[in-house]
Amino acid sequence: MDITGNFQENIHAEDYESAYLAKRLENTHITDYGREGESLNGMWRYAVDQYDTCLRAKWFEENYADEAGRAYPLDFSFDNWALMPVPSCWNLQAEKLFLHEGSIVYTRRFTYENHGEDRVFIRFGAANYQAAVFINKQYMGMHLGGSTPFYVEATGVLEKENRILVVVNNTRRRTNVPCDNTDWFNYGGLYRDVEILRLPKSFIQDFKISLEPGSDLKRITASIRVNGADTGTAYISIPELKTKIEVPIADGKGGLTFEPSVRPVLWDVENPKLYDVEASFGKDLLKERIGFREIKADAGGVYLNGKKIFLKGVCAHEDSAANGKAQTEDEIRENYRLAKEMNANFMRLAHYPHSEMAARIADEVGILLWEEIAVYWAIAFDNPNTYRDAENQLTELVNRDINRASVIIWSIGNENADTDDRLDFMRKLAQKTRELDPTRLVSAACLINHDEMIIADRLIEYIDIIGINEYYGWYIPDFSQLLKVFENSKPAKPVIISEFGADARAGFRGTADEMFSEDKQADIFRRQIEVFRKVPYLCGISPWIFFDFRCPRRTHFMQDYTNIKGLLTMDKTHKKLAFDVLREYYGE
Ligand code: GCU
Repeated sequence: MDITGNFQENIHAEDYESAYLAKRLENTHITDYGREGESLNGMWRYAVDQYDTCLRAKWFEENYADEAGRAYPLDFSFDNWALMPVPSCWNLQAEKLFLHEGSIVYTRRFTYENHGEDRVFIRFGAANYQAAVFINKQYMGMHLGGSTPFYVEATGVLEKENRILVVVNNTRRRTNVPCDNTDWFNYGGLYRDVEILRLPKSFIQDFKISLEPGSDLKRITASIRVNGADTGTAYISIPELKTKIEVPIADGKGGLTFEPSVRPVLWDVENPKLYDVEASFGKDLLKERIGFREIKADAGGVYLNGKKIFLKGVCAHEDSAANGKAQTEDEIRENYRLAKEMNANFMRLAHYPHSEMAARIADEVGILLWEEIAVYWAIAFDNPNTYRDAENQLTELVNRDINRASVIIWSIGNENADTDDRLDFMRKLAQKTRELDPTRLVSAACLINHDEMIIADRLIEYIDIIGINEYYGWYIPDFSQLLKVFENSKPAKPVIISEFGADARAGFRGTADEMFSEDKQADIFRRQIEVFRKVPYLCGISPWIFFDFRCPRRTHFMQDYTNIKGLLTMDKTHKKLAFDVLREYYGE
């Protein structure tokens, strides 16, 4: 289409987005831990595109002139735009971008040399919230969901010299997952790695391996899905277990359960033993690092490798003072070091999938994880597109971390009102989770029924562990009712207190009655813990929250646009009094 026609069209085409949404990047997962990717990180060109003109006027087509070569006037100049580091949150790259909500167009040129691969993919670690991808003027598709990886096949599209262009739009929307109202900062951008994956004609798209649940910790179950071939033989080898097995592939997939020649040392928090596991199919070789462990729950509690455990945890947002959601490996390692200093064995990664580094490092250092999709508060539970978005994000999270020993719980939501629409939406998500992964536990952070002072969320029927968020002593100043709620409740499943806490301004000391004082926060922790000691069906706690985090809703001068319920400041330089209260309790 020539630009004149385009101009007429694009200024009148108010439904310009649906054409892009018609081509979705969903279920694009490729098991890639251990694959060598060629990085596309670095400085990309960018422009703030407040009116979404790139998609409306199709800048990516680069219509520079008419047939006779007469130049068109252009409203973009890709190679002269300013520079933006990838990965990063744009909010922290320039003062004018801090609260920007809308589209930003990213683009860069890159050279591609074929190294003999038959197929080539571009992997995006995450983009918040939606990303329309173009390569060499070709529209590759739109990804929705701000915290999970997606892949674009670029086979036959890449040349020696290439341009990639991504329109990232972080606009909060009522029908998104999360919706437009949350209690955290709405970062935007290509904030995780972008890389090129070179693959043979047929390759292992999905590789899952774990201890087989209920096999009294002796048998390993593995499944493989191949892309590009229907039949053949895959091989799985675990050198340290003197095991190499054949997996016949039919209809593009195969799997089996086997007893390794040597019994694996089981992974646990004290001894996070990982094994090198290789899976091969034809020319494709995949290297994984696997911890073999079993997680189960029943009315009596939660069991790791058959031994009952108490989850001594803490919640954490994916947020850092310096990098926002683009947490670095060092920052993640520091979080786990501090968690262990606090005698914790568990972290609730709220309220959306954190970086894949979080689970990979937790596997190494021995921390149990609760991972969650952002079905948070008042989601549009009656909207089928919203459900499709939630289910795709859940699928992308489970597929991404399916082989991570540290991940023991998939959470499908947080603090949703117990309505019929919500129950139907979440029941389907719970069912989908079990289809994707029968080896882990399903949970959600539910609310207490304050009218009847009891734990009675209808979702409980569909989950394995009941998460309960309660803020007695803070949002509910009358602390006396908390024990009564637990005494009134007869849950048939283990309960974890997935949130409790209070705001405290670091360094502000006062009486236990003084709002925002560290002393009040510590006193609430002490009183909560005293109640927990009297509740036999608790399987753990994860107070809110490990460290302060940016939050536009928190405007009290003590908060200064920060949720200060942290046990640590955002930069982790200051431990509040409650940190030691928890450390002592966990250290008992
Ligand atoms: C809620 C919610 C958190 C929020 C916290 C708070 O329970 O789950 O996301 O930040 O309470 O109010 O600080």
